Amino acid sequence: MGSPLRVLASLCLVLFWACPAFASMIQYCNDEPQFCLAVTLQQNSTTDGHDVYVTLTATPSETGGWTSVGFGSGMKDSLMFIIYAAQDSESLVTSVRTAEGHVLPTPLTEHTNDIQVLRTDVSETQYFAQFVCYSCDTWSPSEIDVQGNSSFIYAANTQQAFSSASSSLTIHNHHGLLIGDLSAAWKAHKDDRIPEIQGTETIGFNYLPHNHDGDEGEAEALFSPVRVHGVIMTIAFMGLFFAGNLTIRLPLLRAFKYHWVIQLSASILALGSALYMFLRSSHLGTHKIIGLVVVCSLIAQAAAGYKHHIDFVRIRRKTIFSLAHRWLGRSIFVVGTLNVGLGMYYRGWSTMGMLAWFLIWSAELVSFAYVVVQHQRRTMREDRGKILASRDSESEVFDIGDDLEDGEGIEGIPLMESGDKHEAK
Ligand SMILES: *[C@@H]1O[C@H](CO)[C@@H](O)[C@H](O)[C@H]1NC(C)=O
Ligand SMILES: *[C@@H]1O[C@H](CO)[C@@H](O)[C@H](O)[C@H]1NC(C)=O
Repeated sequence: MGSPLRVLASLCLVLFWACPAFASMIQYCNDEPQFCLAVTLQQNSTTDGHDVYVTLTATPSETGGWTSVGFGSGMKDSLMFIIYAAQDSESLVTSVRTAEGHVLPTPLTEHTNDIQVLRTDVSETQYFAQFVCYSCDTWSPSEIDVQGNSSFIYAANTQQAFSSASSSLTIHNHHGLLIGDLSAAWKAHKDDRIPEIQGTETIGFNYLPHNHDGDEGEAEALFSPVRVHGVIMTIAFMGLFFAGNLTIRLPLLRAFKYHWVIQLSASILALGSALYMFLRSSHLGTHKIIGLVVVCSLIAQAAAGYKHHIDFVRIRRKTIFSLAHRWLGRSIFVVGTLNVGLGMYYRGWSTMGMLAWFLIWSAELVSFAYVVVQHQRRTMREDRGKILASRDSESEVFDIGDDLEDGEGIEGIPLMESGDKHEAK
């Protein structure tokens, strides 16, 4: 037996006059987030495998959050025990899962009868659950070495609040890798095979400092793909698309050129960044689905904009494409900026951070609405002026339209805005 056990044994002798039960279990306690895990195992005489008993306690965060421990050295092919509680609920939710990679784990579909939840308890200050995994070493997707060291993982999200037991888990904001010596966890007696958490010591476990997939603040590189994605999308949606939406409605000399150059650059940035994130992800969450719909709409939006412009230059009237371009544009802007906020939320931004985003977002919507109304008034004034002069100028307008087919020199002439009742930008 290893030296940790000898130290432990002497400690036990001092603290308790007899402590075989204390010595034959392993326990890990973590500070941030707070949880404790204790493991024992026992030979199963009928199956020849080893039954593994797991006790997990966690101190819920202000919002509750979830905590998970598991066998394995990464999420892929691990066997995870997850606990959380819905708000104001009297019962703890337990879920035993595995994952195909660094993706949202899915509930176990095989060997579900080999896992039993022995006891759960929930209070304001503690979540408590005990599991048994029968003959676990014979079927667990991750390797369990009952004679020596096995890898364990833990993960938690301290910010998620569960409105119901069936809420989907959001990604962990803490995780770590442990090595537990199961040779020190054997129990001979039927009566004390279920481990009780003993204080907050760590016994028979080693914490492995990690830097493998860095999604904790400290381990994350300054230019991690997720951060770069966040910055690009914020610039594209909260910055460029917003500016592009305004310019076409402002009385600027080169409003049209500014509009299409800005919107095209923003679309290319958004499409590129979304494509990159999509290729490196392996599961679809709400944020990704919304993002996918938005960036696909960008292509339709560019096509509608182009068609509107070509038709407008030619016939000087609005078409169905004009209407589609306008409303699709507004929808993309609102949904895209909301998805920026959703992405920030999933990344675990603080309440202050989310509030700052919300204030900027609201300010953008208000100023956009203001510019739309101003633009509408201006257009109506211009229309009134035009009606008076319409008979004389009509042929002239068509001439200009014909000359401008090449797209040069159209700036400064209110091509997108002139005389149409539908104009409500
Ligand atoms: C052995 O495993 C079976 C399930 O495979 C379980 O029903 C039984 O209780 C286990 N035996 C002991 C002694 O725990
Ligand atoms: C498990 O790992 C620890 C620390 O690396 C070591 O001290 C211990 O001897 C190992 N146990 C076994 C059974 O290999």
